[in-house]
Amino acid sequence: MSATRVVVNLPDQRSYDVRIGPRVLDGLGRKVRELLPSCSHVAVIGDANVAPLYGARAKEALNQEGLSVTEITVPAGEDSKSLAVLAEIWQALASKKLDRSCCIVSLGGGVASDLAGFAAAAYLRGVACIHVPTSLLAMVDASVGGKTGVNLPAGKNLVGAFKQPAYVCADTATLATLPEREWTCGWAEVAKTAVLDSDEFFFWLDGASAQLRAHDDDAVREAITRCVVFKADVVARDEEETQDVRACLNLGHTLGHALEACTGYGTCSHGEAVAEGMRFAARLSAAVAGASLEFVQAQDELLDKLGLEPLPFSVPPRELLDCMHGDKKAHDGQILFVLPTDIGSWEVRPVADDVVLEHLDAWARSKEQA
Ligand SMILES: NC(=O)c1ccc[n+]([C@@H]2O[C@H](COP(=O)([O-])OP(=O)(O)OC[C@H]3O[C@@H](n4cnc5c(N)ncnc54)[C@H](O)[C@@H]3O)[C@@H](O)[C@H]2O)c1
Repeated sequence: MSATRVVVNLPDQRSYDVRIGPRVLDGLGRKVRELLPSCSHVAVIGDANVAPLYGARAKEALNQEGLSVTEITVPAGEDSKSLAVLAEIWQALASKKLDRSCCIVSLGGGVASDLAGFAAAAYLRGVACIHVPTSLLAMVDASVGGKTGVNLPAGKNLVGAFKQPAYVCADTATLATLPEREWTCGWAEVAKTAVLDSDEFFFWLDGASAQLRAHDDDAVREAITRCVVFKADVVARDEEETQDVRACLNLGHTLGHALEACTGYGTCSHGEAVAEGMRFAARLSAAVAGASLEFVQAQDELLDKLGLEPLPFSVPPRELLDCMHGDKKAHDGQILFVLPTDIGSWEVRPVADDVVLEHLDAWARSKEQA
């Protein structure tokens, strides 16, 4: 079956393709030749789990087209999204004397694409980049849309740049080696997209959940394609999050990021934290923005079906609130929430601290009773 193509439409000839399908990685070299005719050298930045699995295939595809390849491997995991690792990448690029005609390819999950994208945005004041996402989360979300960056001790993604890739090569065959917990992480972002998108996507996902959890190729590819189509549309309408459109993608992330930070990264996965944040946002929305209890329940059921059960523990509400204030999603001292008002509709609005605390208290109590 040929690959699915989704176009991210941007002004100034910056539109790019996202190709989704098995073995699209084999055509990577041809794509570089077609898109970047003056490029002769490609740096492939992969993480230590993914590079040994797919680095050779990426290199072969590039070498076949006469492109030189420098492989840069970074430790796997969120800790690599750091200024220190970024500096090592820049040093490695400079020591190989890569010039402005080079291209940086990320190979891995969202950590690789955020890191490599930022490296490309600033190296020699900007060189081309291409993403080869290999995690479900990176295929449905992180590799598309041009947000790149690294973490600071003060918080996640606090420094970065908008850097749109020239191409995204989502080879679904690479998902064969993705650990189960990482699949579940991806399902959280897929569920988020379905809630934001439409009844049609939501109920398709609900119906396909068993196939998806069994990694049925066609269903997985359809889920990825639907998410990329949604994200491409959002990015085309609000590339740099200045129009109150792109902010919807933070659904579940206000509480989600705070949970990750307060429990120490890795205690719960990003996906588990986002799913918990979606449950919280729906309840908050029922209280302040008119979401119905049927919606809250339908979303709970969808998350359950995708293996994203409620977290079994809580965190002191005050700690979570402080953490939310330190996040990029606080604005003028108030915490911003994406509140889904129904499937396919949402509001982004600040919520007063006392209201947030009241709901965090209820959330913490529900964990004690569970
Ligand atoms: N830029 C954006 O728009 C955006 C959007 C969402 C998330 N993100 C960022 O993405 C990151 C999370 O991405 P992630 O969940 O992909 O994390 P990740 O990159 O850490 O990958 C998760 C794990 O899966 C492994 N892995 C990836 N693909 C594999 C494969 N095919 N086979 C075997 N192992 C594989 C990785 O080595 C890693 O251990 C976070 O830093 C988050 O902030 C960015």
